Amino acid sequence: MALSLSARPLDPAALDTPLLVLPLAPGAALPPALGPLDAAVGGALGRVLERRDFRGGRDEVLHLAGVPRGPGRILLVGLGRATDRPDDAPARLRRAAALAGRRARELGAGTLTWFGGVASAADVERVGIGLGLGAWEYTDLKTPPAAEERRAPLTAATIHIEDAAAGARGVAAATAIGAGYDLARRLGMMPGNLCTPDLLVETAQDIGRRLGPRVTVLRRREMEGLGMGSFLAVAQGTPQDPALIQLEYRGGPADAKPIALVGKGLCFDSGGISIKPAGGMEFMKFDMCGAAGVLGAIEAVARLALPVNVVGAVGATTNMPSGTAVKPGDVVRAASGKSIEVINTDAEGRLVLADVLDYVRRHEPTAIVDAATLTGACVVALGHAATGVFGNDEALVGEVLAAGSRAGERGWPMPVWSDYQEAIKSDVADIKNTGGRSAGAITAAKFLQEFVGDTPWVHLDIAGTAYSETDLVAIPKGPTGVPVGMFVEFVRGRVR
Ligand code: BES
Ligand code: MN
Ligand code: ZN
Repeated sequence: MALSLSARPLDPAALDTPLLVLPLAPGAALPPALGPLDAAVGGALGRVLERRDFRGGRDEVLHLAGVPRGPGRILLVGLGRATDRPDDAPARLRRAAALAGRRARELGAGTLTWFGGVASAADVERVGIGLGLGAWEYTDLKTPPAAEERRAPLTAATIHIEDAAAGARGVAAATAIGAGYDLARRLGMMPGNLCTPDLLVETAQDIGRRLGPRVTVLRRREMEGLGMGSFLAVAQGTPQDPALIQLEYRGGPADAKPIALVGKGLCFDSGGISIKPAGGMEFMKFDMCGAAGVLGAIEAVARLALPVNVVGAVGATTNMPSGTAVKPGDVVRAASGKSIEVINTDAEGRLVLADVLDYVRRHEPTAIVDAATLTGACVVALGHAATGVFGNDEALVGEVLAAGSRAGERGWPMPVWSDYQEAIKSDVADIKNTGGRSAGAITAAKFLQEFVGDTPWVHLDIAGTAYSETDLVAIPKGPTGVPVGMFVEFVRGRVR
């Protein structure tokens, strides 16, 4: 269930909530306004600070029993020192809030009040988004526990801020962006038998009905008509009807060229004939996280009613081995006219994106940003700490990196020098779809670059950042919602 947020001035003497969250930085004293509450808990708050049981460090949490009348529980969360990780400072408040949201869910508090550290609409937004990220869970497919064992999900949070108008602005933004994150994570977590190309189509159409973007869908037949032999090479092994889904959000002037967001939507990637090893193959249900990011970003941008034009495009299919599947050595022709030798059928994301990137060029976009769980090589290069950022336009790369920093979703720039072009030369076709073992994330990006022409373009390799196989401190394992935040901040940054 979506988290319902409010932010307004609260009377510290009358905080009646199942869970009071107090964010504190190292060395910070208890806000004087909380003196009466401290007295009500027998001075416990002052004591834990004095004894230094709780020091306000990053990721530190301390849970205290509350009082019969007033806060039922008190949770101290550490903010860490802003100067300790200057690179990660914008994410500090959000991370603490995610930790609090996660604890609230584990406790079954149901609702909480956040008191402290919030002075602006942007702060409310960080806390609101963080709470939602931490409290998120996917329970649709689990039998609910018996009533007495059930723990309430976090459904509402109130954030203290002196300026009520700023509070309302922050709540509106956090609610919009939070909805985008929730949508993307839900799609990411859904198993491949439920999250199909058809489901992505229905999800896009639902966004269109609720929020206005025009949704158009090309299925196999239409793609054949457009000569999308690259995308269709991947889809020829699956009985499911593939889809090229397009959402046109028009918030800007009618004559303004749009920004294009493109996502890889492999609802399952078995590798095809070049089949993957069995161990961990189940994680390849997450191979549509780029597409989920595009849908989540359009959801958020439309809710924010940003005055810009944005086209979202998703290439949705599954990569399966079968008698009709594309084989290593096959040569196919992309809609752009380029011939492609398929060396490895597991390098399918770039084949799908080739035709989607080419397709969005018809809108003459001012920029194309694509997101894809594209290569294991990117995970080797950057681990899970950063999205690989590639592009043909230095200014645009900088813009996207800055957007990622603001969103708390960091990226790191990777080179796309022409030196790497050599690796994707084919003996029989114009290019081939793999470039050997070295620089695998870069040669994949070089392949994509073949299909964007001179349009300013950035490619985000989110293979290491879109989901986590283990619990992270602040957010539970599974889809992280990346790159919704980076996309939304990028679009917001274009509002002038
Ligand atoms: N979806 C995978 C990439 C991936 C791997 C994402 C691990 C997340 C975690 C992609 O389609 C793929 O299989 N890439 C191959 C490319 C290779 C065959 C050139 C890879 O990375 O091994
Ligand atoms: Mn693959
Ligand atoms: Zn894949």
